[in-house]
Amino acid sequence: EVYRASTYAPVNIAVIKYWGKRDTKLNLPTNSSLSVTLSQDDLRTHTTASCSAQLSKDTLLLNGEGQDISSTRTQACLRELRSLRQQLEAKHATAPKLSQMKLKIVSENNFPTAAGLASSAAGFAALVRAVADLYQLPASPTELSRIARQGSGSACRSLFGGYAGWQMGEKDDGSDSVAYEVAPASHWPAMRAIILVASAEKKDVSSTAGMQQTVATSALFQHRANNVVPKRMNMMEKAMKERDFETFATLTMKDSNNFHACCLDTEPPIFYMNETSRAAVRMCEAINKEAGRSICAYTFDAGPNAVVYYLKDDESSVVGTFKSMLGEKTGWEGPRGQAIKALQK
Ligand code: DP6
Repeated sequence: EVYRASTYAPVNIAVIKYWGKRDTKLNLPTNSSLSVTLSQDDLRTHTTASCSAQLSKDTLLLNGEGQDISSTRTQACLRELRSLRQQLEAKHATAPKLSQMKLKIVSENNFPTAAGLASSAAGFAALVRAVADLYQLPASPTELSRIARQGSGSACRSLFGGYAGWQMGEKDDGSDSVAYEVAPASHWPAMRAIILVASAEKKDVSSTAGMQQTVATSALFQHRANNVVPKRMNMMEKAMKERDFETFATLTMKDSNNFHACCLDTEPPIFYMNETSRAAVRMCEAINKEAGRSICAYTFDAGPNAVVYYLKDDESSVVGTFKSMLGEKTGWEGPRGQAIKALQK
């Protein structure tokens, strides 16, 4: 007999960034963070998990290609899930012993993984929920976020739709370092995002390695984690709850810049943004100046691609201006967002 479960998880893009760990095994962060989940029609991972007594080893396939399932991060997630399943099997004598069977996990992204668009976040979130569903675990999204965090820190926020937070927590075992819902997507239906792909190349320094270097060498980072982010968390949550786009935009841009300043303050310095990224920043600034208020906000993760947030009513001013800057539109398009490719020469 084959047991099977499928699920989707969305990509999330942080507006208050996670950067720095106090525990590299458990992915426990040095500051809390907040994100906006992108529409699943546009950017998501679909994962099917199955198990049967016939399988001889655990396997993981991403977009048709075999992946290393033995990585410590994936194993940490699977170990937790299997142990929860064992507890369930111990309680219910009739439950099939799925915890003893090997797993086959098949994932598909509907966006180019190579573009470095937070694929690990959606990937681990979908993996954890698919296996949890397969195991029929009574686990809440909060509990699953604790597990997904061990796969990739930012993945914990993808267990929630809409506006999600990740509280850093204080405990050494990470039990209080979990994600939470600030508001569902339906709370602010006018929110839109456009992604400008400034380079589809793989990033130079992975976020995992980059943040470790920053923690080890940057004094600016200490200031960010201790003084800057804690204040911004409250302000940003309030802006989300009140649908205050101007405050949301100002804080989003400030936090992206503060994060990239910490990267620059790292030894050796890390450059994630490139000339195309900076052109996108200038373009946003020009659009906001023209409008007389902030109608768009850029943010950059550990790579050169810009995510620009705006509201539906400002679609023509924001997207129209970007289109004219970039010329031909070549990316994907979906009902709640678009991506324009601006590949670097
Ligand atoms: C810049 O979650 O990819 O996107 O925990 O080592 O897997 P690991 O790091 P990861 O880091 C994401 C960093 C970021 C900011 C964010 O998503 O909050």
